[in-house]
Amino acid sequence: RLFIRTYGCQMNVYDSERMRDLLVPLGYEPADAPEGADLVILNTCHIREKAAEKVYSELGRLKPLKAEKEASGGQMTITVAGCVAQAEGAEIQRRAPVVDLVVGPQTYHRLPELIAKVHRDRGEALETEFEVEEKFDALAAPKRLVEGYTAFVTVQEGCDKFCSFCVVPYTRGAEYSRPAAQITAEVRALAAQGVREITLLGQNVNAYSGEAPAGEEAGGRWGLARLIRHLAMIGGIDRIRFTTSHPNDMDEDLLAAFATEEKLMPYLHLPVQAGSDRILKAMNRKHTAADYIALIERLRTLRPDIALSGDFIVGFPGETDADFEDTMRLIEEVTYAQAFSFKYSPRPGTPGADLPLQVEEAVKDERLQRLQALLGEQQAAFAASRVGSTMDVLVEKPGRHAGQRVGRSPWLQPVIVDEKAGEIGDIVSVRITKAGPNSLFSEPA
Ligand code: 5AD
Ligand code: SF4
Repeated sequence: RLFIRTYGCQMNVYDSERMRDLLVPLGYEPADAPEGADLVILNTCHIREKAAEKVYSELGRLKPLKAEKEASGGQMTITVAGCVAQAEGAEIQRRAPVVDLVVGPQTYHRLPELIAKVHRDRGEALETEFEVEEKFDALAAPKRLVEGYTAFVTVQEGCDKFCSFCVVPYTRGAEYSRPAAQITAEVRALAAQGVREITLLGQNVNAYSGEAPAGEEAGGRWGLARLIRHLAMIGGIDRIRFTTSHPNDMDEDLLAAFATEEKLMPYLHLPVQAGSDRILKAMNRKHTAADYIALIERLRTLRPDIALSGDFIVGFPGETDADFEDTMRLIEEVTYAQAFSFKYSPRPGTPGADLPLQVEEAVKDERLQRLQALLGEQQAAFAASRVGSTMDVLVEKPGRHAGQRVGRSPWLQPVIVDEKAGEIGDIVSVRITKAGPNSLFSEPA
């Protein structure tokens, strides 16, 4: 039995599914709890302190389960995968000797071999493996077991931006784009299994620059817009999204795709992090608040119904009250349909961690509260603005109450639909009757 717990971003969700797909053919059966499992994988996140600390407390909870398994004559192999594994390596073993195996995000395709070695070496030293290999070659023809009608597809990994607060360029490494032909084959196979909506994933997805398919432009490369136009021609794929993007990589071709590609959903997650030029500079974002606002204006001209989502950090070192007010002003100017916001967390090894003028926790708390109140209001206003309108919803799963199903709006909002409106997997047209705190309610249109 195999139990995988996933922390952090959608890329980790994708990686966990690929680990499962690698291990199921070896006889592992997915389980939904760690009790009694033969193999437990924690696919970890290092983006903020809390995310990493959660891993250690989970390892503490696994310890008695491992002892129990051993007492009953079995073995529980505990693996730490993902970004904490990459960043802390052997430190994990020191802090948590219960761990048998540590694998970074670039090497998970070697899990079967590494696990076999743990079995051989039972009782011997920890195996740590961080070599960066051609992960995607090993996954060139992935057999994916998809559940449902939506799927993530990793098209790009790593990041060369080096924002001064961020561990990603260190844990996920340099930018790498998968060849377009490989992605196309994966999406075709997903479509054949019934998938209708794909979300293209990358730490810096709009910097995508993958090898063009053979016979196209020899030796040429495709950007994200070209890839989207190609994937939009695959029968069965009706909705395309991508995440996460950097403002400086929103090229004209990609902006234009929002105007011309009907299958590209009118929703963009485009983090700005802060609204003060001084702080943006210290963050090494390489754009100003005005650059970002101009980009959003251009996007709204091209696709008037586009909704924005963002990420914000409060309390970056040196952030003054005036800097914070700049962020609040930017939010008011842009207006977001959704957003994620965080208190700055110094990450060891990043330039931000060594900056003077770290902001006090109480100040961060207060700023975060104000920021989240504003973003919450905007999210509610966006939801309320849909009431009375008609939209297409992809029905994804049964609802909590009898007679209901839950789907997604083009703007990623959960929509409650009557089961008579359509089957799971259908895209149905509904009229929005009410906006609740977490979802929209509807009637068949
Ligand atoms: N502290 C707080 N938030 C962070 N993020 C990334 N690194 C940090 C950090 N050190 C946030 C950014 C990023 C999101 C995924 O996580 O807003 O866009
Ligand atoms: Fe991190 Fe995103 Fe900046 Fe890359 S672009 S360093 S992933 S915040």
